[in-house]
Amino acid sequence: MTPHQDPPLLDAFALTRSAVVANNAMNRERGLRGVNSYERELGFDPLSRLVAGDAWLDLCCGSGRALIEAAGDPRAEGVRITGVDLVDFFVPAVRPAGLDLVAADATEWRPARRYDLVTCVHGLHYVGDRLGLLARIASWLTPTGLFVADFDAAGIAADDVPGELRRQGFAYDAERRRITLRGAREVAFPYRYLGADDSAGPNYTGQPAVRVHYTDA
Ligand SMILES: C[S@@+](CC[C@H](N)C(=O)[O-])C[C@H]1O[C@@H](n2cnc3c(N)ncnc32)[C@H](O)[C@@H]1O
Repeated sequence: MTPHQDPPLLDAFALTRSAVVANNAMNRERGLRGVNSYERELGFDPLSRLVAGDAWLDLCCGSGRALIEAAGDPRAEGVRITGVDLVDFFVPAVRPAGLDLVAADATEWRPARRYDLVTCVHGLHYVGDRLGLLARIASWLTPTGLFVADFDAAGIAADDVPGELRRQGFAYDAERRRITLRGAREVAFPYRYLGADDSAGPNYTGQPAVRVHYTDA
């Protein structure tokens, strides 16, 4: 816990044990296409952006349903797909070749390669040091790689987050609450992470989310 903060902020360890983050009721079941899907949330079908030899990383992948569907699609021939989620609630299906599902905290996980596509569908709302994660993601892209995620600047207590994101090269669509970045780059945010508040209540999705606090570095 961080002292002198009301409510006290949670550190990374406490956050992973928070009922808001390990919530069984959250939507971890999106498929690749259709009503409850990645295509709908991201605005495109991820496989439409990938060719043989490419690699796709999906952070906070939930059950991994969308990735399992993608890996079984003939268009994914030769595409490597990696999903990372804090909890091992992965669909107990036979894993198609080319798919890895990893149970790990995205803020600590280290990739062994660069990616042509990095996505995070409604996952950053629960991540502690999410600006630190954004900076690391920026270094995981290939030179032409694309990062797309749901992102709510209102979930961050810090000065001028939208402006700072744009200064660092991200595009932030405040209306759609979507963040994108094209191509690897060095990102250094002028903030210091303080901790997370899991008592902030629902965010724009209607689900309880985690509000994170930063101070100027
Ligand atoms: C609302 S669900 C979305 C799951 C999936 N992207 C989907 O749309 O079906 C958010 C996911 O983020 C995961 N998550 C939260 N914090 C995380 C962290 N620090 N590292 C990795 N995954 C995390 C949760 O376990 C949960 O599965």
